[in-house]
Amino acid sequence: MTLNIDAILSNQRAIPRYTSYPTAPHFADQAGLAIAHERLATLPENGPVSLYLHVPYCDRLCWFCGCHTKHTLKYEPVQRYVEALVAEIALARERAGKRLRAGQVHFGGGSPSMLRLPEFDRLSTALRTSFLIDEKTEISVEIDPSDVTPETLDGLRLLGVTRASIGVQDFDEAVQKAINRPQTYGQTRDVVAELRSTGVDSLNIDALYGLPLQTLERLETTIGKVLSLGPDRIALFGYAHVPWLKKHQTMIREQDLPGTRARFDHARRAAELISAAGYDRIGIDHFAKPDDGLAKAARAGRLHRNFQGYTADPCRTLVGLGASSISFYGNAYVQNIVPTSQYETAVHAGTLPAMRGVRLTLDDQIRAFMIERLMCDFALSFSHIERRFGSAARSYIAEARLACANDRFGLSEVTGHGVTIPDEARPFARIVASRFDAYLSESWVRYSKAV
Ligand SMILES: C[S@@+](CC[C@H](N)C(=O)[O-])C[C@H]1O[C@@H](n2cnc3c(N)ncnc32)[C@H](O)[C@@H]1O
Ligand code: SF4
Repeated sequence: MTLNIDAILSNQRAIPRYTSYPTAPHFADQAGLAIAHERLATLPENGPVSLYLHVPYCDRLCWFCGCHTKHTLKYEPVQRYVEALVAEIALARERAGKRLRAGQVHFGGGSPSMLRLPEFDRLSTALRTSFLIDEKTEISVEIDPSDVTPETLDGLRLLGVTRASIGVQDFDEAVQKAINRPQTYGQTRDVVAELRSTGVDSLNIDALYGLPLQTLERLETTIGKVLSLGPDRIALFGYAHVPWLKKHQTMIREQDLPGTRARFDHARRAAELISAAGYDRIGIDHFAKPDDGLAKAARAGRLHRNFQGYTADPCRTLVGLGASSISFYGNAYVQNIVPTSQYETAVHAGTLPAMRGVRLTLDDQIRAFMIERLMCDFALSFSHIERRFGSAARSYIAEARLACANDRFGLSEVTGHGVTIPDEARPFARIVASRFDAYLSESWVRYSKAV
């Protein structure tokens, strides 16, 4: 069946990116602290756990940015924040009652690359004191290339960083001006070379489509430049324009944004170029060289989706540290306090800064599983749901048959074995996944476009 793209696009409604289920707006206020207390105390020593540390500061403010971050021209708030992070790491250790093994540590933001050597040093010491970190632990950092100085590289070396994710977005000057993000190709190329010589052996580059003033030609040029840097992975995200949530996005002129059909065509062309360069397509927005761990996990059906996007990390416990960070404890989510000042006050008072949270009911767990498999594998195997959830799976399999049969847009097909999303419909996987989201219809939340 050939898809009627225009019909699908004009019928789409705003839906979540499904980096969790239930999604963060459906966590309950105040529920987080009790969950964090209970779950941290029962984690097994050799788990392992994955750690996420959030740095909600940037020394520039890009107008497209949808992240939890604050612009600062002074470094002092960052130092104060790192003090609080160090305190939270110790509180988590105390609550766990043991030194948990960390399989992965990821620093995200904001811009963790704006940390200076003393703060890298403090965090490295705090982490190694409270968690078991060794040469097997993968340590990754998100990097804004405009931050990188020899001191940053020393800091990354000291932390033992093995992976980095570099923000590019778009190399075109007119687009960069429209999003307030000047960043030359030369500067980015130098940072890539410096990171590689520092021992960072795996690199990801983030690029965006749907940005103001982007044209097909401009995006093609950007993708060509990204490919010339030879990253192991590429994330190609659609710009989420949510000015009602992110006030600074009002600096972007709506008339400069590509229309819905242009966004789709841009995404498709960029994906074609990246695939033609030998990268495997991973999920809805990632690409990886075939020998990269993410590509191997995707081929083996072992891909997962969490707050950082797609991951090959098999660990089902993610401890989020820092303001706004989200933890996942297998069948419960907890989000930390979002405003940095309140977060700092809580940890300095000796309290875990957990705030919102949700314990997944069996219904949530089954729906989360179905949504994750559709987003990762573009398929949902009925026997897989049954193996996982036993007889409870039956009504969900019936629901899936009903929801995906006679799909008038051709986004899904039902066979005796399960649901599949045809190759051509993969960009619309979020739409298929949303059919199993029990919270969506009652949702007051406004999300961004699905494609
Ligand atoms: C925390 S930022 C990356 C690190 C660093 N601060 C930088 O900008 O280079 C993570 C990524 O989120 C993506 N991103 C940020 N705002 C977005 C938005 N509104 N829509 C889609 N992706 C967005 C960008 O591709 C960005 O590189
Ligand atoms: S895109 Fe990165 S550097 Fe720009 S404001 Fe957002 S987090 Fe900061």
